[in-house]
Amino acid sequence: MKESLSPRILCIHASERARGNSRALYDEAIKGAESAGARIERLAVRDLEFEPCISCNGCDATGECVIHDDMHRVYALLRECDRFLIASPIYFWSLPGRFKCLIDRCQAFWVKKFVLGEKVAANASGMERRAAFISVCGFSDGDKMFPSAEKIIRAFLSCIDVKLTDTLYVPGADRVGAVLEKPELLKAAFQTGRSLAAPTP
Ligand SMILES: Cc1cc2nc3c(=O)[nH]c(=O)nc-3n(C[C@H](O)[C@H](O)[C@H](O)COP(=O)(O)O)c2cc1C
Repeated sequence: MKESLSPRILCIHASERARGNSRALYDEAIKGAESAGARIERLAVRDLEFEPCISCNGCDATGECVIHDDMHRVYALLRECDRFLIASPIYFWSLPGRFKCLIDRCQAFWVKKFVLGEKVAANASGMERRAAFISVCGFSDGDKMFPSAEKIIRAFLSCIDVKLTDTLYVPGADRVGAVLEKPELLKAAFQTGRSLAAPTP
């Protein structure tokens, strides 16, 4: 694949467990994306130091957050990447708190887009910006768990000019290593990453 056609993918891992189930699927999805020539940026939410949104209205006039911490590196990646892979466990029928805090800090983008009428996307390639969301949960009844997390992911992605085009949901995976016992899940994750790297939808 030519350099100009290879998307830059921001891969966000949202679990507080560094080597759990979502991580195994995340790694496979990244392998899939790399096999299709994508350029990968890895981001583990647990390794970032940042404050929650304090609703200070500091972004109201500019769409720029006035709190200076690791989020400014994240903001740049969210604007400049072409594709997004998000892997997260379910915590309390929703997303892990620290990841939700990261999303809340994107209120600055919400202002940029919906108040100031500016584009958030700033990917040099001009490629269509799309995302895949991979999630795991402990209960076997995923139908109750994943929709609430997906709603938040959709709101987040819409605010940064990204379309959710693929999901992979794995219920009944609580124990570390549970997904490793199912090679078909690893295959599906690999394929999710590979499809995400395709230059066209
Ligand atoms: C704080 C916390 C809350 C959780 N809440 C739920 C829940 O609401 N529903 C569920 O099915 N599993 C829940 N789980 C289980 C995790 O989703 C499950 O263990 C998953 O495999 C964790 O993914 P990881 O290995 O990638 O960290 C919760 C786990 C934790 C630590």
